[in-house]
Amino acid sequence: MGGPGLACAAVRAVLIDQPGDESVMKVGEAPEPELGPGDLRIRVAAAGVNRADLLQRQGLYPPPPGASPLLGLECAGEVVEVGSAVSGWRPGERAMALLAGGGYAEQVVVDAGSALRVPEALSFEQAAAVPEVFLTVFLNVFQLAALPDGGGLLVHGGGSGIGTAAIQLAKAASARVIVTAGSAEKCERCLALGADVAVNYRDEDFLEAVKKATDGRGVDVVLDSIGAPYLEANLKSLAVGGRLVLIGLMGGAKAEIGLGLLLAKRLSVIGSTLRARPAEEKAAIVRGFEERFAAHLADGRIAPVVDRVVPLDAAGDAHRAMKASEHFGKIVLRVS
Ligand SMILES: NC(=O)c1ccc[n+]([C@@H]2O[C@H](COP(=O)([O-])OP(=O)(O)OC[C@H]3O[C@@H](n4cnc5c(N)ncnc54)[C@H](OP(=O)(O)O)[C@@H]3O)[C@@H](O)[C@H]2O)c1
Repeated sequence: MGGPGLACAAVRAVLIDQPGDESVMKVGEAPEPELGPGDLRIRVAAAGVNRADLLQRQGLYPPPPGASPLLGLECAGEVVEVGSAVSGWRPGERAMALLAGGGYAEQVVVDAGSALRVPEALSFEQAAAVPEVFLTVFLNVFQLAALPDGGGLLVHGGGSGIGTAAIQLAKAASARVIVTAGSAEKCERCLALGADVAVNYRDEDFLEAVKKATDGRGVDVVLDSIGAPYLEANLKSLAVGGRLVLIGLMGGAKAEIGLGLLLAKRLSVIGSTLRARPAEEKAAIVRGFEERFAAHLADGRIAPVVDRVVPLDAAGDAHRAMKASEHFGKIVLRVS
């Protein structure tokens, strides 16, 4: 940052004067972020929109200490500067990155361990839809909940960014995938993406559907972002020794359940967030994902589902669409 008399470079970014509805987001100028020795500077071409951005905009999900105050948990673009301690990256390479914030801007700096190379087959707009949801699903379903090859997975919100990534990664592991979604059309699209069973939660009981689909055994893993209202049925959907991973609380945070359920079936409940993890942990998640799935991404066996691309100065429209759950897959902002 420049002192008095020194020009401080600025970049276009979505700014928020004070927390509020979609109208508080305005494109303006933010200071160019400072590059640390372990960082990459990326000229952002596109940024993914995530449900958490809607909470942050309203002041309900503050960035972790040290993170950019700007919105944006993922981006893709060209590397334009490489920190002195970074090896393996060069200016001019195409990168997609998991961010603790700052993606709704023309430039970001990010720890090199949080960046992945963009496969040739993907545009920047597609690549910007990869890091947050694919890495979250990889972390939670594979690393934390250890979904076995050929195991059973229940995912709520099959048409969400998270859901569309989960269906594909789990199918790549030959799992049997059951999803919930809020319309017949979204259910159809989940099936077309590879889900084995899709339950319209508005008119069908997902626990009954799980029992039917698994001959009463239950699934090995539930990936849930609904929280309280689904807790009991989620636990009842699990097989003996099953794992419920809770990554969101869209339906509420307080629930009362009989703990006997956990004992009788020897269940585990895991709560997890990705954003606040230290850089080294994120780097380990990125490496694990690349080892297992980079080839799938490169040859198209898995691919981000991009619902729409919206210009940066229409970020409010993107948030409105996400709030109304109009989308299937990801909403992406075109930044530059
Ligand atoms: N903990 C972490 O590290 C982490 C990381 C990333 C995301 N997340 C969380 O994961 C969730 C999904 O994120 P996203 O960005 O993928 O969001 P998204 O694309 O906006 O998807 C959320 C979807 O959930 C569906 N939904 C709403 N109520 C539902 C219900 N009762 N049952 C089943 N589905 C329901 C909605 O679609 P329909 O109702 O139309 O089907 C909605 O589109 C959010 O809660 C987010 O905070 C957590």
